[in-house]
Amino acid sequence: MAKLIINGGRPLAGCVNLQGSKNSALPILAACASVNGISVIHNCPDLTDVKAATDILSHIGCKVRREGKAVIVDSTDASNSVIPESLMHEMRSSIIFLGALLARFGECTVTAPGGCEIGLRPIDLHLSALRSMGAQITEEGGYLVCRANKLSGCCINLDFPSVGATENIMLAALAASGETVIHNAAREPEIEDLAHFIEKCGAKVSGAGQSVIRISVPSKLSAAEHTVIPDRIVASTYIAAVASASGKITVKGAEYQHLAPVIPAFEAMGCAVAYKNGELNAQLTGRPKRIKLIRTMPYPGFPTDSQAIIMAVAAKSRGTSVITEKIFENRFRHVPELIKMGADIRVEDGCVAVVEGVASLHGAKVESTDLRGGCALAIAAMGAEGQTVIEKIYHIDRGCEAFENRFAELGADIKRTE
Ligand code: UD1
Repeated sequence: MAKLIINGGRPLAGCVNLQGSKNSALPILAACASVNGISVIHNCPDLTDVKAATDILSHIGCKVRREGKAVIVDSTDASNSVIPESLMHEMRSSIIFLGALLARFGECTVTAPGGCEIGLRPIDLHLSALRSMGAQITEEGGYLVCRANKLSGCCINLDFPSVGATENIMLAALAASGETVIHNAAREPEIEDLAHFIEKCGAKVSGAGQSVIRISVPSKLSAAEHTVIPDRIVASTYIAAVASASGKITVKGAEYQHLAPVIPAFEAMGCAVAYKNGELNAQLTGRPKRIKLIRTMPYPGFPTDSQAIIMAVAAKSRGTSVITEKIFENRFRHVPELIKMGADIRVEDGCVAVVEGVASLHGAKVESTDLRGGCALAIAAMGAEGQTVIEKIYHIDRGCEAFENRFAELGADIKRTE
């Protein structure tokens, strides 16, 4: 199995182009199945999770091809509304096909999704919202069988601003009569991006990026062309890497507004971050400072996806940092791996990590436990003394395009071995 070998202690320098957002590309690819015709999705990152999405599209009868950074989806002949377990288990975002296929076929059969093991990750909010729109959902032999002779727009109040549930409702709304209103909707930039895509397809959407989203479909929908937003979590990964290894880097194509929840945290750790004309410069000399308190929250709070990443920096900072995970109940699985590298971290009540910064981390043999946890180990390794071997890097490949090549271009001593 592939591994990353990282020799730490090299400051980073240079420029890197930011990839398109995984968390935007996946629901937009699912949305391509809801509309009839040829959609062209630009800036689609080349990732195993994106491959999992295009495999589902092919399975249901779409013709899919990649041309450079674009994925072209011809959904004209889509006809299969059953997604087998093997495809559903490839990633968490496969659940978004529930709303997409319900909108296209009025029925679909799926299993529970796979994805990173970071918590229970229930789908009750998705199911109750779709039921209130008129879907009948039953569980038959491990499969969720969903049928809707007619979907009707209605008011849905989410108990929690779930990203996935908001996306599923938005997609099901494409086939609903009347207006669908989502209260307490997720406000993540990826929701706005999905809204922009379905607007191009002909839907009328207001409020995306805010707590109340309204969707209606005034006329027939058609396929559309769209460019996926830059990946804010990968951008935060680059900033964390420079905070860990020190140096000065430029991330090209970042969206400053999307990074507003994380930049103050890196600045508090002594990282100078500046933004001009789509270029983000990040610089840190010496050892980072502690971050007093991080609490992960729905957007625009500090993202759960950047929690492990900033913990890797805190591990070698001056002082004690406290990091509280409020979104998922099992998202500290990287902690024992960081401890193997010399980190001093204790987890209290399962959701609070107290990180006593150490003067230096050292190389070790570690394994990725999930996507962002794997990135955190690489970040720690770049700032550590000696060699780190990271196993199970298929987790990293789910969300980071050409991870080792991009960091090698920035001067890290990093290579992949099979
Ligand atoms: C979440 C993150 C998203 C991130 C993604 C991948 C939040 C709010 N969402 O999205 O930013 O990119 O993981 O790491 O930070 N929940 C339920 N019932 C449901 C759905 C969700 O109880 O039906 C709970 C989950 O258990 C979790 C929380 O809501 O505690 C957030 O879930 P949700 O936003 O739906 O997760 P993802 O869509 O996977």
